[in-house]
Amino acid sequence: MGTFVVFGGTGFVGRSVVHHLCAEGHRVIVPTRSVEKAASLKVSGHVGQVTPCAFDLFRSSKESLNTLLAGVDGVINTVGILYPKRLFDTLHVQWPKTLATACGHLGVEHLIHISALGVAPSSKSAYASSKARGEQAVLSIFPRASILRPSVIFGPGDGFLGKFANMASLLPFLPLIGGGKTRFQPVFVGDVAQAVMALIASERHEGQVFSLGGPNVLSFRDILQAIIKTTGHDVFFMPVPFFMASILGWIMQQLPRPILTADQVILLKSDNVVPAETKTFEDLGILPTSMLPMLPELLQGHMRGGRWGTPHSAITESETAPHANL
Ligand SMILES: NC(=O)c1ccc[n+]([C@@H]2O[C@H](COP(=O)([O-])OP(=O)(O)OC[C@H]3O[C@@H](n4cnc5c(N)ncnc54)[C@H](OP(=O)(O)O)[C@@H]3O)[C@@H](O)[C@H]2O)c1
Repeated sequence: MGTFVVFGGTGFVGRSVVHHLCAEGHRVIVPTRSVEKAASLKVSGHVGQVTPCAFDLFRSSKESLNTLLAGVDGVINTVGILYPKRLFDTLHVQWPKTLATACGHLGVEHLIHISALGVAPSSKSAYASSKARGEQAVLSIFPRASILRPSVIFGPGDGFLGKFANMASLLPFLPLIGGGKTRFQPVFVGDVAQAVMALIASERHEGQVFSLGGPNVLSFRDILQAIIKTTGHDVFFMPVPFFMASILGWIMQQLPRPILTADQVILLKSDNVVPAETKTFEDLGILPTSMLPMLPELLQGHMRGGRWGTPHSAITESETAPHANL
């Protein structure tokens, strides 16, 4: 059993990684800006198995990072943001660089960095290009690091299904950005955490990049349709062309917690599916989980008329997944 540090461990993906590490008997340290926020993670393990500690990526010194990482077996970096754009370079490029340098200096065995599907240095999206530069920095400084690139991630407490289910409960329509044609390969958060476990378990995967997608390719429209069917909300689709969505995104990004940004609209212009010729879950020996059968459970709190308001049945893949099953 080892000791692992999970940066971003209070986040959606980080929590699942902490949970899986605990289940395998590892000791987990969670550096966070808010120790209170991390307190709930303690029940992921036995007494003393999870240790939250105060750490600020912007303010903490190199020495305090070295002290934190001294003697640990592995580090998982799940820090990432969708806004504000002005912090992309600091959090997606400079921070991974600092972390990889410290891990190299201290001889940490495992460094696993969570990136995202579709990133490229030349991307017009500032999110995608910063994430790509972060990957490059990590691999150039710490060549044994492994990179995970998930498609959109679903699971309890995600910011994806929940966001649109909320909108469906508040509005008479759901926006179909770019006609809803963009294709995704939604991946279960538990499978992403399982991939981290597989990387820890074997040295075979060091220095490699894995693209993670679920078993089904679904269009944006398919996903919204499945949410509506599951929750029972009576809403219609309103097509919103990309140029109009960009303007809306620009206006919304002036808010402290925007539901859409202009940069996200750029991301929506490209499909977010696992490319050919890449390492995938299969190479890690993991059979990914399908999203559709999980929707009734994941959207319980968003049902029309309340949690017990709408009788629902699990959605079958043939109903909502016209695209190829992978
Ligand atoms: N969710 C998805 O659908 C998805 C899809 C593809 C890739 N990803 C990638 O997966 C990773 C995890 O995503 P997530 O959905 O779990 O994100 P999340 O829930 O927002 O969590 C991100 C974590 O990053 C830390 N963080 C955020 N801003 C920070 C700042 N200014 N300074 C220091 N720490 C900060 C936070 O930790 P503290 O608040 O505790 O300090 C937070 O727990 C990210 O790299 C993301 O790009 C996510």
